[in-house]
Amino acid sequence: MSLSVDNLLGIKYLNQKDLQLIFETADKFKEIINRPIKKVPTLRDITIANLFFENSTRTKLSFELAQKRLSADVVNFSASQSSVKKGETLVDTVNNILAMKVDMVVLRHSSVGAGVFLSKHTKTTIINAGDGTHEHPTQALLDSYTMIENIGDIGGKNILIVGDITHSRVALSNILALKLQGANIKICGPNTLIPKYLTNLGLEIEFDIKKALNWCDVANVLRVQNERMDVNYFPSIREYRKLFGIDKEMLNSLDKKIVLMHPGPINRGVELTSDVADSDQSVILNQVENGVAVRMAVMYLLAQNK
Ligand code: CP
Repeated sequence: MSLSVDNLLGIKYLNQKDLQLIFETADKFKEIINRPIKKVPTLRDITIANLFFENSTRTKLSFELAQKRLSADVVNFSASQSSVKKGETLVDTVNNILAMKVDMVVLRHSSVGAGVFLSKHTKTTIINAGDGTHEHPTQALLDSYTMIENIGDIGGKNILIVGDITHSRVALSNILALKLQGANIKICGPNTLIPKYLTNLGLEIEFDIKKALNWCDVANVLRVQNERMDVNYFPSIREYRKLFGIDKEMLNSLDKKIVLMHPGPINRGVELTSDVADSDQSVILNQVENGVAVRMAVMYLLAQNK
């Protein structure tokens, strides 16, 4: 079995079988990284460059750890300390890195479509680690993997995505992954932070957070991305917290026990109160743990296609 794609540029390029294969492969890697000896020689002699043109904690470290667990050689690039600062283009930067015999590139970039653009102008395997407000495919894969781990097959299950959808790359990738698996999806957040195109995707929108939470099996809560907002999308953080924030009182008032997820970083006290983020209903750190196994699976499978 192999993936239907040579790059991971977005969930939109994957099919249901690809997802299944990634999850089955991640199961094997998850078992391996929980052994005392976590390293396997699977990607020995493969060199991978992590090119991060935007800040990251989880994704960058998760990819690097995944690569090291697979015995790949790793080089890390940070735009702020590079010749990008001297005006070098993205294609020139990447072609220079590839000239040093790099086999695979993990790219985070603030521009929508940066990975697709690079795939047309360079000859290497590219993994999109987040392109602007567009897609973050490995986050959606680890999110789905974590949902399956908690509630089983997500076909027919009710999944809620709450928060700043407009500025989120996690939202679109999650929606596409959930649709491929036949989940029921609802969106909740301020009207100003829900893009109009979502209704074209056949998604239901609910503005009442309590109704939305009572409907769902899993709530994936997204961050308010203040750094991407050039105007005010809602009157105040206090109002956001009141209308869309989740606290312990809200959680305890629900008819059932739901699973809570967040891709991080969390604005504690805004999307989630600390007692909710750290509660036994939160699987946020499980998402981070699963990210390593899922990224190992993605890199292993893409390397097979070379
Ligand atoms: N979830 C996520 O992409 O986090 P980072 O920005 O820290 O990588």
